[in-house]
Amino acid sequence: MFKKFNFTGLLFIQWTWMELRLWVQRVVKWNLRKITGLCELQRIAYGETPGAARSSNIERSLMMSRSSEIQKLISYLDRAANEGRFSATKSSNDLIISKAVKAVMQIKLIKPSVHQQFVISLEKCIQKIWSYRQLLNDLESLRTTSYNSENSEHEEKLIKLWKSLRPNEELSDRISRQWQEIGFQGDDPKTDFRGMGILGLENLLYFAIDYPEAARHVLSRSNHPRLGYSFAIVGINLTSMAINLFRDGSAKYHIYNTCQFGSHIETFHKFYCYLFLEFDKFWLSEKPRDVMEFGKIRDRFEKKIRVELSDLKVQFKLNVAVETI
Ligand SMILES: *[C@@H]1O[C@H](CO)[C@@H](O)[C@H](O)[C@H]1NC(C)=O
Repeated sequence: MFKKFNFTGLLFIQWTWMELRLWVQRVVKWNLRKITGLCELQRIAYGETPGAARSSNIERSLMMSRSSEIQKLISYLDRAANEGRFSATKSSNDLIISKAVKAVMQIKLIKPSVHQQFVISLEKCIQKIWSYRQLLNDLESLRTTSYNSENSEHEEKLIKLWKSLRPNEELSDRISRQWQEIGFQGDDPKTDFRGMGILGLENLLYFAIDYPEAARHVLSRSNHPRLGYSFAIVGINLTSMAINLFRDGSAKYHIYNTCQFGSHIETFHKFYCYLFLEFDKFWLSEKPRDVMEFGKIRDRFEKKIRVELSDLKVQFKLNVAVETI
């Protein structure tokens, strides 16, 4: 009885405290607007450094807004992202983004002629925020596309992967034990993609084609008799790590800091290549006894990456200058 009372009391105090804080925040916001003559979005755009600090704060401010017009604007931009209307080329986005910025100026009663810098900043932030959301959709649709050996495009990509990783060795047959040399499980890789679908293949292929030397180097290390691991299988596992980091928003600071003109599928592939190279280094530095330690080392690696990604200034840079063993 006593315990229960205490618990409800605690909840009540907590609730009152939260209400009070929200109320104080609103009063502070209102006063700041009076004193500076700037709304919160402007204060962020002028006060925060470009990149993650500015874009994430703008995002938070928009999402928290109690204005129904701002919420309507958010739905409009979400719809554009869901329909895939943000593209990698800048010009095609201009219409959506300038329309959105115009709406904010009207809602917040900001004069564009006086606040040109704000217009530019806000455009960039909107591009970053909503191209990230669109990228999540694109990733999901690739992930849910299963590898299909009757699809000639899929088959061509698989063969291309072989050729890029093993340029000096002919594949004797489509079904062959040779696939195990690049870390697939059996004679036919088609079943190894499973939960990651065609996204797993696209990731591996991007790594092999865009960083051929680094990819072959990592492959040769993965074939080490004692310290080795299955290159393709680990690669597919890293695809799932990468997509999870994107989905739960952990990759956002890095992306907002790195991509001036928003993110698209290549942004994801590059992030993946970074993970692969870093994982390979991490694996060796952990001195595994055998491949059975994969799960443990993988978890430690993910933890390390998450810590690094939580820094507002994070910017992963691909270091392809590989050392030789
Ligand atoms: C990746 O590896 C971990 C550890 O072995 C495992 O728990 C997880 O299910 C794997 N994920 C995928 C998508 O293969």
